[in-house]
Amino acid sequence: MARDDDDMPQSHEYDVLIIGSGAAGLTVALNLPTHLSVAVVSKAEITSGATLWAQGGIAAVLDSEDSLENHISDTLDAGGGLCHEDAVRYTVENAADSIKWLVDSGVQFTRDENEQLHLTREGGHSHRRIIHAADATGNAVSTTLSEQAQARPNINLLSRRVAVDLITNRKLALPGNRCVGAYILNLEDNHVELFRARFTVIATGGASKTYRYTTNPDGASGDGIAMAWRAGCRVANMEFNQFHPTCLYHPHAKSFLISEAVRGEGGVLLLPDGDRFMERFDSRGELAPRDIVARAIDHEMKRLGADHLYLDISHKPADFIREHFPTIHDRCLAFGIDITREPIPVVPAAHYTCGGVMTDERARTDINQLYVVGEAAFTGLHGANRMASNSLLECLVYGRAAAADIARREHDIPAPPSAPDWDESQVRDSDEDVVISHNWDELRHFMWDYVGIVRTTKRLQRAKHRVDLLSREISEFYSNYRVSNDLLELRNLVMVADLIICSALQRKESRGLHFTLDYPGLLNEPEDTVLVPTTYRIASP
Ligand code: FAD
Ligand code: SIN
Repeated sequence: MARDDDDMPQSHEYDVLIIGSGAAGLTVALNLPTHLSVAVVSKAEITSGATLWAQGGIAAVLDSEDSLENHISDTLDAGGGLCHEDAVRYTVENAADSIKWLVDSGVQFTRDENEQLHLTREGGHSHRRIIHAADATGNAVSTTLSEQAQARPNINLLSRRVAVDLITNRKLALPGNRCVGAYILNLEDNHVELFRARFTVIATGGASKTYRYTTNPDGASGDGIAMAWRAGCRVANMEFNQFHPTCLYHPHAKSFLISEAVRGEGGVLLLPDGDRFMERFDSRGELAPRDIVARAIDHEMKRLGADHLYLDISHKPADFIREHFPTIHDRCLAFGIDITREPIPVVPAAHYTCGGVMTDERARTDINQLYVVGEAAFTGLHGANRMASNSLLECLVYGRAAAADIARREHDIPAPPSAPDWDESQVRDSDEDVVISHNWDELRHFMWDYVGIVRTTKRLQRAKHRVDLLSREISEFYSNYRVSNDLLELRNLVMVADLIICSALQRKESRGLHFTLDYPGLLNEPEDTVLVPTTYRIASP
């Protein structure tokens, strides 16, 4: 049962604490037995994660012309030899059931004239297999699941609560390797509260905010990955940050994606002089996997000194464009671009974190009773490059698996031990917030310039030098001043940037999303880059 202690209002106890309210977190919450008390915390509004922004859709085999083996082999192919085949098979085989669960939950997907789910196409997919709600799939998923969660008496949805750090037996100097909850900053009164739970689930999304240009919402600062690393979990393949090829290029458009489905429905990429170029890079043209398309755009932009290229779908009937891409059409029009008549200026931007906290088929981690789901997790599904629309699918499949595992084990797991309240006695209010905003900008600039689409060892070493300096500065700041959301995000971003750089330095080849001029070839025996906190020396703010 949930219990808020009246004498200690800053202390809470639940059966399950879920940190994050995107597709992954809400899928776990809604699939748990209803007798369990569940808290879902989100650092902003409940529908504030990347899930709300998803456009293209969710991949699943629902057409008789398609097959599970096709979806599996496309995913393996896009993943550049690093996907774990068992994870791919598990995800693909559970896709149809997950979509059925979403439909039964009330998500309204686009249907064709026969009332069947309409399937669109995206890069890397050999068949039409993307289920979608026009070009605002994430909005449909996020709003429906949060409404469902709100209606469940056992689920407490708490917005404006920022998880600071996990609490483990190790931190409490108790025997065993168990997670017992987290310290959470309540932004309503700026106090850190204690949340104890029998099970804790991290569902905090990705870390693309590490980069200057990104398609992601502001909260994508890798908090869950950093928290799990600090608590002692292994992380893997952090060098594979995906750059989406087509983000809208406009001085006033912050982070607006132009869905890959635009290319799936016939959109073509153009140079400033109007020439197509993708065929020169890959026979699949505009529908090659994302790493190839983003690198081709980057190459052409650098070759021509252009600050953007173009994506054109204006050759399609205007009604077709407005029906399939209403959100993109309206948003571009608001910036003075009529996509039914003219090409869209586009640039690549950081989009998705393929690496993350290492988990197994049930989303379990190296720490007992700690699960990680969604973009924060490394399940082995994506390999060196995630195929489009496989990530919402991963949130659903592994979210359901985590809930099933908790349900299976709930009778064996006792109440969490007591833990001390957050200690603020040694800190004061910051009088120098400029340090935070300056360091935030500096980090995202050098990550873009030195750890971006094309890397070199020298640039990575430069980035490592700078990240070490920032780590030390933030560590000092963190020890002396009261925590705020900005400080916590910066602390996590710096840590995740360090994990990305260290992973990139370890990979002595160019594979998938990691491309370095110093090692342009492929190694014969590809391996995951696994960082282990107990043995790996990394700066720790
Ligand atoms: P999110 O949806 O990002 O949710 C993270 C949650 O964690 C939020 O509630 C946030 O507030 C909370 N949180 C984070 N840190 C803390 C903290 N410290 N304390 C408390 N709460 C915290 N994928 C597809 O498969 N198909 C698509 O069409 C698609 N389109 C995309 C379009 C865009 C523009 C973007 C950005 C991504 C897209 N993706 C798509 C990727 C996909 O949307 C994400 O990978 C997926 O939504 C991640 O879900 P999640 O639940 O793991 O995290
Ligand atoms: C898109 O619509 O292009 C995004 C799809 C994805 O990231 O999976």
